[in-house]
Amino acid sequence: MRPTSLARLLPLVLLGAAALRAAPLTVGFSQVGAESGWRTANTESIKAEAAKRGVKLIFSDAQQKQENQIKALRSFVAQGVDVIAFSPVVETGWEPVLREIKQAGIPVVLTDRAVEVSDPKLYATIIGSDFVEEGRKAARWLAEKTGGKATIAELVGTPGSAPAIDRKKGFEEILRGHPDMKIVLSQSGDFTRAKGKEVMEAFLKSPEGKNITALFAHNDDMALGAIQAIEEAGLKPGKDIIIVSIDGVHDAFVAMTQGKLNCTVECNPLLGPQLFDLIDAVAAGKSVPHRVVVKEGVYDQSQAAAALPTRQY
Ligand code: AHR
Repeated sequence: MRPTSLARLLPLVLLGAAALRAAPLTVGFSQVGAESGWRTANTESIKAEAAKRGVKLIFSDAQQKQENQIKALRSFVAQGVDVIAFSPVVETGWEPVLREIKQAGIPVVLTDRAVEVSDPKLYATIIGSDFVEEGRKAARWLAEKTGGKATIAELVGTPGSAPAIDRKKGFEEILRGHPDMKIVLSQSGDFTRAKGKEVMEAFLKSPEGKNITALFAHNDDMALGAIQAIEEAGLKPGKDIIIVSIDGVHDAFVAMTQGKLNCTVECNPLLGPQLFDLIDAVAAGKSVPHRVVVKEGVYDQSQAAAALPTRQY
């Protein structure tokens, strides 16, 4: 090639390389749904962080259905995204689609909820809370509050989901050391306020329901629904029935300042910044820890009023 043609081509080659480097990352994200205040805050955090970083986010809402998530994941593969991230509705049944994604050479980052797979290399990393520890924290707080004596109703999260399985496990683990604390009623409220209310109404009408002294709700939204049911039954939530739940959403803090909820164990949904740090690292081929656990606290009525103004979700 003559030097003049080379000189003419060089700027184009450099431009091409720069364009390649500057190409925004395309990320497919499949969210569980919009079932709770926690989930809304989580979605906002992820969308805001993607926008801040100039990431092209293809967002899909699974409406709490695994089949919708599997469809979304396959469509991300078809669209050739750079990274796939998702918060799995349930723990099991992911192996085939994760293998398809691996085959396509697209890295997977899990957030919030875990999956149960035979090969942990099917995903690069997971960032989320320690749900077992959250269940333990709730039980420890209740044991302390009740002096180790309680007849407990439990509102369970979505059946088969990691937080429902793990929170129950952690809570029951602590109960084994307290023979006078017993779960007498347990049913799923699907992590929603409406279902939490409906199930609590049924609990209160049942023979065992007459003796309930405490409620453990796997999330704040179900506890808030249950509070309505308790009030409609002519009882005082927070006094006649001691209530502990998980998440730490704004409305839970309001309920604590009103004396209706006794304690919430924090589960932080503001994962956007940390999630995209991991996505960026994985896309760049850097090594990342296989699990990143978020640090969280426990709040009761004595701290609620002071903490409320600074709550971010
Ligand atoms: O996976 C996190 C849980 O899912 C939150 O505790 C709950 O509110 C949400 O629906």
